[in-house]
Amino acid sequence: MTAEGSAQSRAPVAAETLSKKRAAPPVPPSLAGFLSLNDFEVAAKSYLPRMLHGYMAGGVETDWSLDDNRRAFAEWGFIPRCLVDARARHTRTTLFGKEYSAPFGIPPMGSSALMAYRGDLVLTQAARAKNIPMIMSASSLIKLEDVARANPDAWYQAYLPGEAERIEPLVDRVIAAGFKTFVLTVDVQVSSNRENNIRNGYSIPLKPSFRLFWQGATHPRWAFGTWFRTLKNHGMPYFENMDAGRGPPILSRDLERAFGARDGLAWEHLELIRRRFQGKLLIKGVLHPDDIVRAKAIGVDGVMVSNHGGRQLDGAVSGLRMLEAALQVAGDMPVIYDGGVRRGTDVMKAYALGAAFVFVGRPMLCAAAVRGQPGVERAIDLLQEEVHRDLALIGANTMAELGPQFLMRVPQAG
Ligand code: FNR
Repeated sequence: MTAEGSAQSRAPVAAETLSKKRAAPPVPPSLAGFLSLNDFEVAAKSYLPRMLHGYMAGGVETDWSLDDNRRAFAEWGFIPRCLVDARARHTRTTLFGKEYSAPFGIPPMGSSALMAYRGDLVLTQAARAKNIPMIMSASSLIKLEDVARANPDAWYQAYLPGEAERIEPLVDRVIAAGFKTFVLTVDVQVSSNRENNIRNGYSIPLKPSFRLFWQGATHPRWAFGTWFRTLKNHGMPYFENMDAGRGPPILSRDLERAFGARDGLAWEHLELIRRRFQGKLLIKGVLHPDDIVRAKAIGVDGVMVSNHGGRQLDGAVSGLRMLEAALQVAGDMPVIYDGGVRRGTDVMKAYALGAAFVFVGRPMLCAAAVRGQPGVERAIDLLQEEVHRDLALIGANTMAELGPQFLMRVPQAG
């Protein structure tokens, strides 16, 4: 090829690159310093009162499961392919017939509106704007009907006792609000032993105390940006969505949450929900392949393989370790993963191990706390850009191309 010929063939690509760069909206200065999801987690640590940060960031007992979520990723390395034309690459991924712009979503996180002003709405609106899925928590402080209005594609996640008389009205309320996807979390049979909450003075509902006052006073950005702003504009937040009716307020001297017999929740209740809810039904917090077999037989549409971000049974393995076994029994039913996903490379590893989708928790809530909806959108952009770049570097154009051929187990020291 002549020098002139090669210059001609390069010209259109250069022009396209230029126009793409011009089209990207500029990052506002208040967000430009956030270069990775970790930056939001660091910022949230100083923004949030210690008791709230401990609740959000912490795990349970020895944090073995929390740490295992990161350890499991570290045990895999990539074997990239080279000289693959990756100009057609994209991060779009289809789940339950809907094409999302990125291969990850935001999982349910309780009390989000205590960490971030209007937290559930901020998360769901950012998810909608960026076309990724978002799951609202049963343990949330903004009415599920309001979340559904803000994002008709949001999913609802339930915490249920093994009591049909409480399950049925809740399911009916979720249906009436228009939710098309229902997630039943199955790994919260009882409240877990989160010692950091006790040490930091965190409880649900919060109890008025000097310590609470002091933590607020020493974190004025949170106190004025989230707490007093919420009280002024919306009044005292309540747990709105555990049942068909309203639960207790977030701050109370003597009220307790009436969880009911959550340790009595059993397969028959999943069958009951399946009969009642016609939309997509998932269970979250499953690890054993036999449980996936049983859930599939009942007719669920997907499973979320998860150890609840290391917040429930300490010692429960990372769901990443169970993905291959889960896939063997799931057939064409999507197996979704969450826990410790912090980088584009983590998303890619989970997909290479067979995940149909992944969810990213704490960093998104941190972004909501410190920068609101623009912060969450920035976090989504950063992670999506990482995946997009990593696809080229690994030698692939789509998430669907990723598989075990790109991975190698790397023995860890110690
Ligand atoms: C959670 N998680 C959770 N899960 C759930 O099913 N219902 C819930 O209400 C909550 N609440 C909740 C609150 C907070 C503050 C956190 C951090 C997590 C677990 C969550 O859905 C998800 O499984 C993990 O957060 C995933 O791990 P990473 O991405 O945070 O490491």
